[in-house]
Amino acid sequence: MKVSDNDKDMQPLVRVENLMKSYANRKITGQCEEVRAVDGVSFTIFPGATLAVVGESGSGKSTLALCLACLEKPTSGNIQFEGADISKLAEKERRTIRRKIQLIFQDPASSFNPRWSVLEIVAEPLALQGSLSRDEIRLRALALLEQVGLSPEMERRLPAELSGGQRQRLAIARALALEPSVLILDEALSALDCSTQAQIANLLVDLQSARDMTYLFISHDLAMAAHLADEIAVMNHGRIVEQGPPDKILKQPQTEITRELLAAVPRMTFARPEAQ
Ligand SMILES: Nc1ncnc2c1ncn2[C@@H]1O[C@H](COP(=O)(O)OP(=O)(O)OP(=O)(O)O)[C@@H](O)[C@H]1O
Ligand SMILES: [Mg+2]
Repeated sequence: MKVSDNDKDMQPLVRVENLMKSYANRKITGQCEEVRAVDGVSFTIFPGATLAVVGESGSGKSTLALCLACLEKPTSGNIQFEGADISKLAEKERRTIRRKIQLIFQDPASSFNPRWSVLEIVAEPLALQGSLSRDEIRLRALALLEQVGLSPEMERRLPAELSGGQRQRLAIARALALEPSVLILDEALSALDCSTQAQIANLLVDLQSARDMTYLFISHDLAMAAHLADEIAVMNHGRIVEQGPPDKILKQPQTEITRELLAAVPRMTFARPEAQ
């Protein structure tokens, strides 16, 4: 599956057009300065595809993610999701969309209630739906934990008693409980060691084929982006400066910023497993 699929019948799940998000930052002198965190970004993501957004710190990746997840209101531009513009919705409607576009951060620990068990954390969004019995909630929560590779004996543990990789698996299970159409992973692998990164990356690939998930994968790591994505967008100073299939970005980088990101990946082999 490619982001820019040639299938004319297929509608994009997400279409972002000329998105802008500015902040007014106060300088030491007391004057306000406009920061264009996202400055005219456009892209589409087709159902079941992965778009990776890579860029240096401060390039606007998280701001883009927050706008897409309806957690920040764009200054201007459009975000079409499932065919409707979600960029100018009222708060109540934004809440409904938030369930469908789930965001996973680098360190999910701060978003877990530290006193809740693993099972309770995954069960909460299921309980909030209001239509499931206690037994159904428990069974579904256990099935989700199994799907993300957390064994049943983990169910009573607290978040603090999990490893970083296990916490990220828990964050994914909780996000999946809401049956989202899109999962935004904002540096979700960045705090993990290499082998745990690879395991979670494999989990993401498996979930994508099992559930036809659509991902926006945000990272500094061009190698991981190339491994996971159908298409890579490189951001710099709030803009997409280069976009294309991973092979092209890796082998023929067009911009200095992409070459710098490539140089920052020492283990880069330029070999990418054939798409399955
Ligand atoms: N709430 C905010 N108020 C003011 N300025 C902000 C705010 N959020 C982000 N910015 C600014 O917008 C720019 C983009 O920030 P953003 O967090 O989107 O970058 P990023 O690419 O995610 O960086 P990193 O890789 O470090 O996470 C930065 O200059 C940042 O200082
Ligand atoms: Mg960020």
